[in-house]
Amino acid sequence: MSLHDEEFDEQGFDGQGVDGQGVDGDGRPESLTSPESLPPERTAEAALRPKRLSEFVGQQVVRDQLSLVLDAAAARGRAPEHMLLSGPPGLGKTTLAMIIAAELSAPLRITSGPAIQHAGDLAAILSSLDEGEVLFIDEIHRLARPAEEMLYIAMEDFRVDVVVGKGVGATSIPLDLPPFTVVGATTRAGLLPAPLRDRFGFIGHLDFYAPHELEEVVRRSAVRLEVDLEERAAVEIASRSRGTPRIANRLLRRVRDWAQVRGSGTLDLPAAQEALRVYEVDQRGLDRLDRAVLAALCGRFAGGPVGLSTLAVAVGEETETVETMVEPYLVREGFLLRTPRGRAAAPAAWEHLGLEPPAGPEGAAPMLGRF
Ligand SMILES: Nc1ncnc2c1ncn2[C@@H]1O[C@H](COP(=O)(O)OP(=O)(O)OP(=O)(O)O)[C@@H](O)[C@H]1O
Ligand SMILES: [Mg+2]
Repeated sequence: MSLHDEEFDEQGFDGQGVDGQGVDGDGRPESLTSPESLPPERTAEAALRPKRLSEFVGQQVVRDQLSLVLDAAAARGRAPEHMLLSGPPGLGKTTLAMIIAAELSAPLRITSGPAIQHAGDLAAILSSLDEGEVLFIDEIHRLARPAEEMLYIAMEDFRVDVVVGKGVGATSIPLDLPPFTVVGATTRAGLLPAPLRDRFGFIGHLDFYAPHELEEVVRRSAVRLEVDLEERAAVEIASRSRGTPRIANRLLRRVRDWAQVRGSGTLDLPAAQEALRVYEVDQRGLDRLDRAVLAALCGRFAGGPVGLSTLAVAVGEETETVETMVEPYLVREGFLLRTPRGRAAAPAAWEHLGLEPPAGPEGAAPMLGRF
C-alpha cells in the first residue's frame, strides 16, 4: 500500500483528518453548532454523504453548472476541466468532489494542501495518476509555494518536472502526464494566488442553505439512519442549523439519541425541542457561548460599541475564539455589528434576548445611526 492509498480511508475524507488539523485547535471543540467537522463524527458523516449529483440537495446554480461541465466532458469522451469549489465549512465541498468522481466513473485520489509538505510529494502523486483520474486537493490554499508552482504546470501542460539527483548534479526530467482533473476545495478562495485560480475552468461557490433545503437534507439523512422523523421535527432541526448541512446532520443525530433514550423512539417535535434544549441550541441556532456574547454586549456594555478583547474577557474566552467561531454567524444573522469603534449590538440582539433596547442618545438604535 502506498502512502497515498492511506488517504482513501474514511479518516481522510474531510480534509481535517489528513493532517490532524481538527477543530481541536480552534478552541471550541465541543460545540454542536461549529461548522467544522469534529474528528469522532467523520464516519457518521461519510455514511450520510449523498453519492450522486441528483441526491445533492440545494446549491441549484452550482449543480446546474457542474452537470453541464460533466455532461459536456462525457459527450467529448475527455477528462473535464479542473474545478474549484469554494465556500464556508460544512456546505458540501468534499461531498461534491466525491460526486464528481462518481459521476465521471473515474477513480478518485484524495490529498490536501497541508499534507503536501514538499514539491516532491506532489510529484509522486502526479506521476502516479491514471488517465481520467480525479485528484481532489482539499484546503488547496494551504499548499506550499513550490508545490503550487508545480501544480500550475501540471494543470496547464500535463507535465511534471521530476528532479533526479542532488546539488549541482541534479537534473530535471520532464514527464508527460495523462489527462486528469484537479478538483480543489477551499474555505478561503481569496487566499488563492491568481495564477492558480486562473487554471480552473470551473469555479463553484457554495452558499449557505435555505431552511427548506436543510429540511430535505435531514429528511434524507433520517432515511439513511433508518429513523422515523416527523415533519415538524425536520423543520425544527433545519431552522436551528445555521444554514449548514453538517450542523443539520449533527443535530439530527442528537435528536435521535434523545428520542431513543428518553422519548418514544420517534423523532417528533417534542423530542427535537427537548434534545436541543439539553444541548443549549436555541431557535436561531445560537449556542451557549453565542448567547453569552450577546448578553454581555447588551447587558454589561449597554449595547456597545466595545472592543473585541474586552468582550472576549467578559465571556471568559480567547479573543480568537470570539472572532472566528462566534462573530461570523452573529454578524451574518444581523445580531452583531463590527464598527470602527468596536462591537455593537443590533436591535435583533436585544429582541432575541427578550430585552428592551435602552432609549435615548446612548440607546442601541440611535447609536447605530451614527455609523
Ligand atoms: N447538498 C447536500 N445535500 C446533502 N447532504 C449534504 C449536502 N452538503 C453537505 N452535506 C452533508 O454535510 C456534511 C458535510 O459536508 P462536506 O464534508 O462535504 O463539507 P465541506 O464543505 O467539505 O466542509 P469542510 O470545509 O469542513 O471540508 C456531509 O457529511 C454531508 O453528508
Ligand atoms: Mg471538506
